[in-house]
Amino acid sequence: MRKRVSIIGAGNVGATTAQFVVQSGIADVVMFDIAEGIPQGKALDIAEACPLWGSSSAIKGTNKYTDTADSNIVVIAAGFPRKPGMSRDDLLHANANVIRETCIEIARTSPNAIIIVVTNPMDVMTYLAWKATEFSCRRVIGMGGILDAARLTAFLSWEFNVSPEDVEALLLGGHSDEMVPLTRFTAVKGIPVTELLPKKTINSLIEKTRKGGAEIVSLLKSGSAYYAPAAAIFQMIKSILLDEKRVLPCAAYLNGEYGVKDIYVGVPVILGKEGVEKVIEVNLTKEEKTQFMRSCTSVRKLIKKLSI
Ligand code: APR
Repeated sequence: MRKRVSIIGAGNVGATTAQFVVQSGIADVVMFDIAEGIPQGKALDIAEACPLWGSSSAIKGTNKYTDTADSNIVVIAAGFPRKPGMSRDDLLHANANVIRETCIEIARTSPNAIIIVVTNPMDVMTYLAWKATEFSCRRVIGMGGILDAARLTAFLSWEFNVSPEDVEALLLGGHSDEMVPLTRFTAVKGIPVTELLPKKTINSLIEKTRKGGAEIVSLLKSGSAYYAPAAAIFQMIKSILLDEKRVLPCAAYLNGEYGVKDIYVGVPVILGKEGVEKVIEVNLTKEEKTQFMRSCTSVRKLIKKLSI
């Protein structure tokens, strides 16, 4: 039987993710939205591109959760994006209501699905989705670290004027300005950037990465980034559906790993057909640990605000 990926939210992120999945041909897609006509129209447009892409994936747009039934993966990209001057955390209460409503439906219609949460503030929304669905924590995962790492990788590849394929970046922590880049493990063809660039340059690229999402929000004026976020979601979908067991930085539930309990936050994980198959622990320096704990505290504060 063909695999099914459902995408909740047919906005910029959701529809671009749908495009990447259908174009790749690895699964059929159902795109759900509360807005009438939008998921249907975008799905039809994508479906009509299939002959040109040589893809035999099917796609359906819908306003009914029953159409998403028995999905292998459900991506939650529903909710409100940032406006200029807003932080991801400003979206907390409005998007929490969307997540609660969505998760009740997903748990009912696709009880065996793996859920990828994209809606911001993502680490907290992932925790909320886990609570609301009561799924195993291995099957509820947040997308953030791959995007942050991709941004840092892009900036480093521009700095060195090399292919981004030869640059590898690793980050931990929340998908926020408090992300924790691990420069010791960020390398060009295996050579740590700490050996290749002055500290000042590394710090300015890290700062650009922290502000990467906000930079796009301020340029767009309305809406937030979606091409790179959708590419990051697609990488997760592919690793799960094809059981690739990629090592990817994702928001995962920690139960003692990194000395932290009962929180979703960005860490490297092995992503395969079971979802999060392992959280990879890295020995942190004192400074990295301090930064990581600060990032965890911020996520925890938002969880408390929602009284989950
Ligand atoms: N159920 C389903 N869809 C919903 C709901 C809901 N309760 N509430 C809103 N939506 C839909 C909107 O109708 C819209 O089509 O979510 C979609 C959001 O699309 P955009 O406004 O284009 O936002 P987008 O850029 O796709 O971002 C979505 O992902 O990256 C995060 O911060 C971003 O939280 C935001 C989310």
